[in-house]
Amino acid sequence: MNKSTREGRGSGYDLVISGGRVIDPETKTDRIADVFIQDGIIKKVEKTRARIKAKEIIDARGKVVVPGLIDMHAHLREPGREDEETIYTGSCAAVAGGFTSICCMPNTQPPIDNQETVKFVYQKAKEARCRIYCIGCITKGQKGEELTEINDLVRAGAVAISDDGKPVSNSQVLRNALEYSSMFDLPVISHCEDLSLSANGVMHEGFVSTNLGMCGIPAVAEETMIARDIALAEFTGARLHIAHVSTEGSVDLIRQAKKRGVRVTCEATPHHFTLTDEIIRTFDTNAKVNPPLRTKRDVDAIRRGLKDGTIDCIATDHAPHSIEEKEVEFDFAPPGLVGLETALGLVITELINKRILSWTQAVAKLTINPARVLNLEGGRVKRNSPADITIIDPKASWVVDPPKFLSKSKNSPFAGRKLRGKVCCTIVNGKVAFEA
Ligand code: DOR
Repeated sequence: MNKSTREGRGSGYDLVISGGRVIDPETKTDRIADVFIQDGIIKKVEKTRARIKAKEIIDARGKVVVPGLIDMHAHLREPGREDEETIYTGSCAAVAGGFTSICCMPNTQPPIDNQETVKFVYQKAKEARCRIYCIGCITKGQKGEELTEINDLVRAGAVAISDDGKPVSNSQVLRNALEYSSMFDLPVISHCEDLSLSANGVMHEGFVSTNLGMCGIPAVAEETMIARDIALAEFTGARLHIAHVSTEGSVDLIRQAKKRGVRVTCEATPHHFTLTDEIIRTFDTNAKVNPPLRTKRDVDAIRRGLKDGTIDCIATDHAPHSIEEKEVEFDFAPPGLVGLETALGLVITELINKRILSWTQAVAKLTINPARVLNLEGGRVKRNSPADITIIDPKASWVVDPPKFLSKSKNSPFAGRKLRGKVCCTIVNGKVAFEA
């Protein structure tokens, strides 16, 4: 946004975003309006003819104004791998990608499995450019054996528990986790992978893996665990959220469970609704991810699941890895890709512009839906809500250029891809945190 558009006229409100297309899925708003902000709070959303008095005015004509995006699944690598990402650099990447809140997964070194480490994250988060929410481990050391002190994690501010990166293989341990967490109305976020089936796999098991002679991870490695987790959620009545759904069968299982009234929600990532295992033919290790990129049939099923509401949220699974670790033979590279700075462009290009989701549906999956899953107060552009807002130029096109990422890591399989829809401005707590 150029300077002339941010001129202030008199005092009054701290900030007014004027003339944009305001989309708020919760209040079913989709209209041209001005957003008035004072002391970090949205004071009103209305169309005014009167001359606006504010310290700062952002001219948002031709732009889309949405609640600040919420990423419920990011790996920020701090503590332990600050060479790959820190809470601060992750927050810079987040605001550049339009996110005003991100949730950090606990598979750090050491893992976030006790109150002190949760407090450490929130201490570091004070310097971050966006809101950081901490997810704690389900089991101590992510070993899948002994439950963490869930009560302590919650008191320190954990918004969910997850052993993401690894499954909780022992069903009794997961049952206990679901029962304890339901006392706090805390969602358990499950990484569904049967390790005996995924074994030494490095990519999706199917035609391409056979062609390339690579070890595969079959779709059932995910589906059997989702079936088990749904059964446990149904049995305990607890809240289950399934991370990074990647297969057609998984979407079907969740759809059926929802119909039966099981308290299950789930997310899909931009890479799983965009890319197929065909990309592995390039041997680009940046496309190695867990769960792996699947087939076109699976991508289509995920798109259907997003459209019919089976898939509630879009989450990045932002997983930074260093160049040294990724520049090895495919079999030895760690899985994961950075997603914070490409997620919105992929949602607009692949889902909205291809008419799979409306703007309101897409925005809901990036804002109010994750806010509801995690009981966060953000995700709304309405009176008395925190002034977390993202302003998007829906028509701007750009080419993904990882060296320009604000993330410390550059491991993106989308390098060189042309995307539509760009973040102009990200406002956190009433203050401009990023401006293109
Ligand atoms: O690809 C992945 N990378 N999947 C995960 O579940 C973990 C993540 C990581 O931490 O690198």
